[in-house]
Amino acid sequence: MSQAVDSISVPSPADFHVHLRQGEMSALVTPHVASGGMDLAYVMPNLAPPLTNAKQTVDYVHSLEKLAPGTEFCGTMYLCPELTPDEIRRAAKAHIAGVKSYPRGVTTNSDGGIENYEVYYPVFAAMEETNMVLNLHGEVPSDAEEGVCVLNAEPRFLGHLKKIHSQFPKLRIVLEHATTRAAVECVRSCGDTVACSITPHHLDLIVDDWAGKPINFCKPVAKYPDDRAALREVIREGHPRFFLGSDSAPHPLANKYPSTTSRGSADALVHDCGCAAGIYTQPILLPLCATLLESFGALDNLGKYVSENGRAFYQRPARPGREVVLRRAIGDESKVPSVYVHPSHAHKSEEDPTKLEVVPFYAGKQLAWVIA
Ligand code: NCD
Ligand code: ZN
Repeated sequence: MSQAVDSISVPSPADFHVHLRQGEMSALVTPHVASGGMDLAYVMPNLAPPLTNAKQTVDYVHSLEKLAPGTEFCGTMYLCPELTPDEIRRAAKAHIAGVKSYPRGVTTNSDGGIENYEVYYPVFAAMEETNMVLNLHGEVPSDAEEGVCVLNAEPRFLGHLKKIHSQFPKLRIVLEHATTRAAVECVRSCGDTVACSITPHHLDLIVDDWAGKPINFCKPVAKYPDDRAALREVIREGHPRFFLGSDSAPHPLANKYPSTTSRGSADALVHDCGCAAGIYTQPILLPLCATLLESFGALDNLGKYVSENGRAFYQRPARPGREVVLRRAIGDESKVPSVYVHPSHAHKSEEDPTKLEVVPFYAGKQLAWVIA
């Protein structure tokens, strides 16, 4: 494949980090896995309440299968004290793929997240034994006394990754949504059981792009130009342990752009004025990945990034006959919609804070590729 090509075929694209939510939001976004070009979605458990046992996770996966019957879903559980080694064994029998660890308080629905990894060593041992994957949100909580803030929270986490890897060398671990050169180098230096997901938005954004711009705000935040360069380099190289996990994370518009109207009062704004963390890429994912990889000379590795590498690490072979073909976009046919609205909310006015609408990444911009 060369950069002059005008069509690309990708075998059974797979997204190994997806948020598909619940209720009406789930109904809106779950079909976007397939329309965005993905054949498999590895689904995060940070629901409200989180998925903390095998039965809840299996039921959740079934609810997603009803919403999008052609898509393959892999369920995960939320690391927390309820998750015992016995529950891990039950989950493995039920084909649950992994366990996600959220450090307490660093992102959406992480209040029940963890503070100490050692207390989970018996759980990690059961996971190693049953071949389950540990997915790490790699940030430590901000702590001004300790000099920790969102810009160094990921490098400060890497010691935990190294320690867990050295204690459980056979446990497959994915450092999720890496954003720094330090994280890329750390994963490179680990053994073959440690891999790393990289989002398309972190291949694109730096600090300047999210400061003051809610649409580009997510956790972990995008970092410095040199960090982005390291992410691009490792994808350009096609390193087998780095692959797509979009971290596509839809939030209602009213939570991304809180205003006095959507939050009820100025008082509420003062006390709870945060913009929800999360970037929504699902409906444009494969064309977005192609557009970005081409922009930094890595289009040849699109298949490795969006399918082969992740599938090899997760031991989830591509489904036969499920290749997706991209072709070059003509005119404005690949202009990203400014908003996705749940059909039963379409009649509501723009001012109505209960209107369920989600603004995607790249809203209003052109992509270079479309799904043929
Ligand atoms: C995610 C979400 O909204 O669920 N948000 C985000 O900014 N990435 C949670 C997460 O993966 O951190
Ligand atoms: Zn996520």
